[in-house]
Amino acid sequence: MTDSSNNVPVQPLYPDAGTPVPLPRLYLDAPLPDRGRFGPWIYGNFVATLDGRIALAHPETGRLGVTASIGDARDWRLFQELAARADVLITSGRYLRDLRLGAAQDVLPLSSKPPFVDLAEWRVEHGYPRQPDVAVMSGSLDFQIPEALFRQGRRVTVLTGTAAGDEAVHRHERSGARVMRISAGGAVKGDDVARTLGDMGYRRAYSVTGPYVLHALMQAGALDALFLTQRHRIVGGEDYSTITAGPVLTPPADLQLQWLYLDAATETAPGQQFARFSLEYPPSSAHADP
Ligand SMILES: NC(=O)c1ccc[n+]([C@@H]2O[C@H](COP(=O)([O-])OP(=O)(O)OC[C@H]3O[C@@H](n4cnc5c(N)ncnc54)[C@H](OP(=O)(O)O)[C@@H]3O)[C@@H](O)[C@H]2O)c1
Repeated sequence: MTDSSNNVPVQPLYPDAGTPVPLPRLYLDAPLPDRGRFGPWIYGNFVATLDGRIALAHPETGRLGVTASIGDARDWRLFQELAARADVLITSGRYLRDLRLGAAQDVLPLSSKPPFVDLAEWRVEHGYPRQPDVAVMSGSLDFQIPEALFRQGRRVTVLTGTAAGDEAVHRHERSGARVMRISAGGAVKGDDVARTLGDMGYRRAYSVTGPYVLHALMQAGALDALFLTQRHRIVGGEDYSTITAGPVLTPPADLQLQWLYLDAATETAPGQQFARFSLEYPPSSAHADP
């Protein structure tokens, strides 16, 4: 699909089935909370096929990536609009490693490409810095922070565990990042991420990462909302990623549908649906209280 296809409207289905609405600004103008369960409102976003694939292994390198058979330009526009609403993006060590290998889809949003320049302008008009800040979740600290993030004036914070070695910590600090050991051990806990970002003054945090970070956030009850594009397509494959990975969630994460839009099929592309869910955590669950 080309970007001009953004002229095709989408059909609201839930909570009210109404007349078609334009795709651009669908997520940019939607009212969103600015307070979540533990501090900032934390939201994630995925595009998945009907068989649940969010990434497929490259046939030669074996590296996982979002293929053109999974994502499309219309979903990418909404992904960027959600980034425009954030104070801080949550990314991962894996993403920054992929970026160096050229396997990531783009530099971290907001994209500087022409179809998205309106988003940076929207931010400035609404009193935000042109680009959201960046928080990197990593146990290994085995990545390099792109210089471009600092040139864009973004504050970069690395969130890691107490097991992180001093040498790697100092390397990231020398590059201009702040490194915080926020949880005991190697991995960081989702509620520690949320509280830390809240203490830093952030009100909305957008997780642009994959299944492991989402798992950490949900396990701690720290994910407040999930935006999910489901492409009306099945791709199969033996080596793929899906929305979340990690131990069985106990209790499971239950979600409540907030809205649903149909993006109808065209002659050249399958249909897809754009959903927003809120996360419902039972008060009696093992999750820590806010
Ligand atoms: N279709 C979509 O919407 C979509 C969205 C996002 C990602 N993807 C794709 O999904 C694929 C898989 O992504 P991924 O498996 O790499 O998932 P990921 O969850 O983005 O990243 C995993 C990395 O995050 C860090 N991490 C995760 N949980 C952590 C924790 N609790 N504490 C500290 N660090 C933690 C680790 O970094 P260290 O190794 O540095 O410790 C780990 O390697 C990628 O190909 C990506 O492109 C698709």
